[in-house]
Amino acid sequence: MAPLPISSIRVGKIEDVQELIKSKPNKVPERFIRDTNERGVSVSLKTHLHQPIPVIDLSKLSKRHTHDDFHFEILKLSQACEDWGFFQIINHGIEVDEVDDIEKVAKEFFEMPLEEKKKYPMEPGTVQGYGQAFIFSEDQKLDWCNMFALGVHPPSIRNPKLWPSEPARFSESLEGYSKEIRKLCKRLLTYIAISLGLQEERFEELFGEAVQAVRMNYYPPCSSPDLVLGLSPHSDGSALTVLQQSKDSCVGLQILKDNTWVPVVPLPNALVINIGDTVEVLTNGKYKSVEHRAVTNRESERLTIVTFYAPNYEVDIEPMGELVDDETNPCKYRSYNHGDYSYHYVSNKLQGKKSLDFAKILN
Ligand code: OGA
Ligand code: NI
Repeated sequence: MAPLPISSIRVGKIEDVQELIKSKPNKVPERFIRDTNERGVSVSLKTHLHQPIPVIDLSKLSKRHTHDDFHFEILKLSQACEDWGFFQIINHGIEVDEVDDIEKVAKEFFEMPLEEKKKYPMEPGTVQGYGQAFIFSEDQKLDWCNMFALGVHPPSIRNPKLWPSEPARFSESLEGYSKEIRKLCKRLLTYIAISLGLQEERFEELFGEAVQAVRMNYYPPCSSPDLVLGLSPHSDGSALTVLQQSKDSCVGLQILKDNTWVPVVPLPNALVINIGDTVEVLTNGKYKSVEHRAVTNRESERLTIVTFYAPNYEVDIEPMGELVDDETNPCKYRSYNHGDYSYHYVSNKLQGKKSLDFAKILN
């Protein structure tokens, strides 16, 4: 979350998408129009033929080693992480009230007048606050999205000035929600470790005091969804990402599988989990951090609440010794400091999986 020197970045005028559709509902300014090869919806039509992303039932994993279900679900998990890098979880144990509550305050936040939201600005080159992240030049295309992002844990990454006083319950809801999601991430990492044949606590011991950040993405409807993207293609720099889609959310998230954009169709009460770059490196590429993007819709808005869970910035990352074999599976990534990787990630525009070039050993 380390900021860049703001004075060196010129980003040009970044129009607020919600304000734009209020004043000119049918206009899509040039800066949002993607090159033909990048556009969203037209490619996605044929993708509905594709099989859906895997669904993991976490209640089957809480029964532990005694039960066949446990082993079957662990196998499903390992296949999901290897083949897809994405899965949905059901019966995850997070109360519906908690999920509804964060969605409600997030919605209320985005519905506030612009003047109010501007009290928490995301300055150019930084990734916390309200605005658009990852913009570094005046001619860079913009996403059809408003974002509000906050560092949550450890407290040292928080910028208290950006935690809003309105809606009144925002901070309290985010604290409660984040605690639950943190527990969920720790739990998922133990299952992921088991699925790799590692010690259960392997990731947690390595991660130290894990870093947790949240980004709320609000995608207003767009009169020409085929010309724009809600969120540019990228992989996440995290270890794990937990994505909550607003209730009755239309399809918006797409993942790149076998060169095709596959939609993630929301399941009721499910959360979407994806493997981030850090787990790809730690598993020497066995588990994949998969490129994804968001598209928009002509009629419906869409809101997502996304938690990024990652090692402490102090931690050094490299493929785990247990998963490297000089003969059959040589080391594909170099060792690096996670804080350096985070800085590298947030100081470049989103561009597919390009960030990971930072760590790749090229032969
Ligand atoms: C993200 C992300 C997808 C979505 O915030 O990193 O991939 O559908 N979001 O909002
Ligand atoms: Ni993402």
